[in-house]
Amino acid sequence: MNEMTTFVDRSNNQMPAERHGVEAYISPEYARAEQDKLWRKCWLQAGRLEDIPEVGNFITYDILTDSVLIVRAKDGTGPGAIKAFANVCTHRGRRLVDTPKGERNAHGSRANFVCGFHAWTFDVTGDNAGVCSYIQQKGEWGGVLNDANTRLGEFKVDTWGGFIWINLDPGAEPLRDYLEPAATMLDPFQLQNMRTRWRYWTVFDCNWKVALEAFNETYHVAGTHPEFMAFGDFTGWGRQQGKHSHIGYDLPKDADPTLGENKGKLRLGTGDPRVATAEMQKYTWEGVNTNTTQTLYEVAQTLPDVLPEGTPPEEVLKYWLETARAKDAARGVVWPTVDTAHTAASGTSWQIFPNQQIGHAVNNMLCYQARPCGFDPDKCYFEVAVYELYPEDGAPETQWSYLAPDQFPHVLQQDFSNMAAVQQGMKNVGFRGNMPNPKNEGAVTSLHRNLAKYMGTGAPEMVR
Ligand code: FES
Ligand SMILES: [Fe+2]
Repeated sequence: MNEMTTFVDRSNNQMPAERHGVEAYISPEYARAEQDKLWRKCWLQAGRLEDIPEVGNFITYDILTDSVLIVRAKDGTGPGAIKAFANVCTHRGRRLVDTPKGERNAHGSRANFVCGFHAWTFDVTGDNAGVCSYIQQKGEWGGVLNDANTRLGEFKVDTWGGFIWINLDPGAEPLRDYLEPAATMLDPFQLQNMRTRWRYWTVFDCNWKVALEAFNETYHVAGTHPEFMAFGDFTGWGRQQGKHSHIGYDLPKDADPTLGENKGKLRLGTGDPRVATAEMQKYTWEGVNTNTTQTLYEVAQTLPDVLPEGTPPEEVLKYWLETARAKDAARGVVWPTVDTAHTAASGTSWQIFPNQQIGHAVNNMLCYQARPCGFDPDKCYFEVAVYELYPEDGAPETQWSYLAPDQFPHVLQQDFSNMAAVQQGMKNVGFRGNMPNPKNEGAVTSLHRNLAKYMGTGAPEMVR
């Protein structure tokens, strides 16, 4: 039995009306304090397992001044297969692996790393992972150099959902405990089997929270993406789930309750659902290239021809998803089966505290991440990655590529148009603080409740 069928769908409950201040977004002191209180405490998603499939493959991950060298040290999934080292030479502190100019991170394959300053050499694979294996004129230290005082510093690392997570805090709780209940809720979607269709990073003139919060609610659809209103109703909910939160769409009031799946990401348009779904899929596929796949898009285009006028929505949904599922299976792309109640309860995306959003479905996902860009509260890195299921060996090779904000798909540019404007607006002395919609924007409130626990400041207060 799928244990998650017992998950309580609380989407109709709403958060209280809370207000939180702007300190978390605009204060330089707060931004600086985040390093020790947040970034050096939380589990952070630092890459994908498929980024480092072979022994010796590596990626780096930078969070403010801390840089992490993540290496596949051994085959398999056992302890020590993936290692996370402090990306710094233990001799005199030169960064061990440089990030190529203009790139998000370093990546490649090596059995060892030679420091560019005095050539100390560090092994990063096998049982020797982390060992400093070559030191010029080692005897001149009088014999005091040993493995313990020369090996690379090491951080906690673990994997879930195909993602590699690191934690800079030696006392951190286990990853699985940290991720719950998101991990259990998302496990049936088998995110580990998905591969990137595309992934881009950019830089915004806003705080990292402003960037993330532009995507963790559907309340903005009517104002920011008015074109979507032609396809249906995008009202939704956002719920705190411990450290994390999730969001989803409301089911239309007169809808058949068996349409629970329609609350997930793969949803129908309203009106004539055959036509509206075909149009919404076309607009989504061509306009933003997220949240759907070529197969779903192509099958959706046939709906008005294949199904008779007046086909009830639940039958349109069933035909669309079952046909696309079979079409994909025929080319070796097997979607996991997730029961309807679970899909409905899971919503459309999870916000993993502090800085990742996973927009999940059975055959694709859309992930956003944001990180501070130095200690300037007005700047952040923002990353978008679109994943889907591919046939074995059929996934494209992608790396993180930079894209200027105005080069992203136009629907995302609509979201981006609010970033700097929100950041500037919050600095207005006449602004009294954020008042998220208690139902639609519960994920915003959840973030600030949890931030307040880590930061010791900024707890939301009731709106009066
Ligand atoms: S700082 Fe790396 S060898 Fe000297
Ligand atoms: Fe949006």
